[in-house]
Amino acid sequence: MEYRKLGNSDVKVSAVAFGAWAIGGWMWGPQDDRQAVLAIRKAVDLGVTTIDTAPVYGFGHSEELVAEAVRDLPRDRVQLLTKFGMRWDTDKGSVRWETADLAGRPIKVVRNATPQGIEKEINDSLRRLATDYVDLYQQHWPDPDTPVEETMRAIEKLLKAGKIRAAGVCNYDVPGLAVALKIIPLVSCQPPYSMVNRAAEKDIIPFCIEKNIAVLPYSPLQRGLLTGKIGPGRKFAPGDHRSTNAFFRPANVEAVNRMVEEFRPIAAAHGATVAQLAINWTARQKGITSVLAGARNPEQAQENAHSPDFILSDGEINRINQLLEGLKLDL
Ligand SMILES: NC(=O)c1ccc[n+]([C@@H]2O[C@H](COP(=O)([O-])OP(=O)(O)OC[C@H]3O[C@@H](n4cnc5c(N)ncnc54)[C@H](OP(=O)(O)O)[C@@H]3O)[C@@H](O)[C@H]2O)c1
Repeated sequence: MEYRKLGNSDVKVSAVAFGAWAIGGWMWGPQDDRQAVLAIRKAVDLGVTTIDTAPVYGFGHSEELVAEAVRDLPRDRVQLLTKFGMRWDTDKGSVRWETADLAGRPIKVVRNATPQGIEKEINDSLRRLATDYVDLYQQHWPDPDTPVEETMRAIEKLLKAGKIRAAGVCNYDVPGLAVALKIIPLVSCQPPYSMVNRAAEKDIIPFCIEKNIAVLPYSPLQRGLLTGKIGPGRKFAPGDHRSTNAFFRPANVEAVNRMVEEFRPIAAAHGATVAQLAINWTARQKGITSVLAGARNPEQAQENAHSPDFILSDGEINRINQLLEGLKLDL
């Protein structure tokens, strides 16, 4: 495993990180807690030191599972990345999702990155994560009702207080990044990015390279699609958001699976799976610091942790890129 610095900070992350969204049990159908804890422990055993979670992932549950998984490790053996700004415990803020909590009760998730909200959220996260600092604290989504400057000044206070080691954002556009950078030394940005979702290459990634901001791409397996295991008639479990996600429309699944079949021999030549090929390819792209790969059980965590173990030749990369260029999706 390779370890890379987050911008100018002294936080080093693993080239592949453990994504802890699905294990929270929200938007991915049923999830087994024991499998979740074992998945994180397997990843850490294999050199993954970075774990990305958020309060809203299972309404606190993902953060608690992360704490449980790393409880016996020295604190500096892992980097705990969490987020703020997506609230389910207040109605102050613009509604992002009308959803259900883990007991099936209807709730609303709002965007709220106000200084008062941040002060509460950091303490809640520190308690759930059973720690006294977060390695990277990230705004989860832009808040249309709170100026970026106000949010970033509140984050600056947390940096000074030592509650967080470094600050980042997710889902920001370039103008938003530029404003945030004027206030604090922002070190990272999370955009969605995978072989089949490359919008971030247009301006986010070039801007981050120019400003020495680490790029932490999320959903590198396009939520499981790039593993080739999902057929066009797949019925997802109740509550799994993929049942209505455009990437999982039957025609898109068929097109991706045809392409994935062409990837198979390239992966096999390295003793790898196509899931590993997808993560490996993503980690190799310009400007990418740490690929956030989600996993729900130890087998997936092991496969993903081993994904940087091989080097694709230039010829293989060219063939993969050629296949990607030929892919047409209806999104
Ligand atoms: N900042 C943000 O707004 C944001 C948004 C999204 C994600 N993220 C972060 O990025 C992380 C990764 O993204 P993601 O979870 O959306 O998607 P992903 O990493 O593309 O896909 C994860 C899903 O793919 C399946 N999977 C993973 N490894 C596999 C393997 N080796 N073989 C077969 N199936 C495998 C699992 O679901 P099944 O087994 O059910 O198929 C898993 O939940 C998240 O966990 C989160 O930390 C951040």
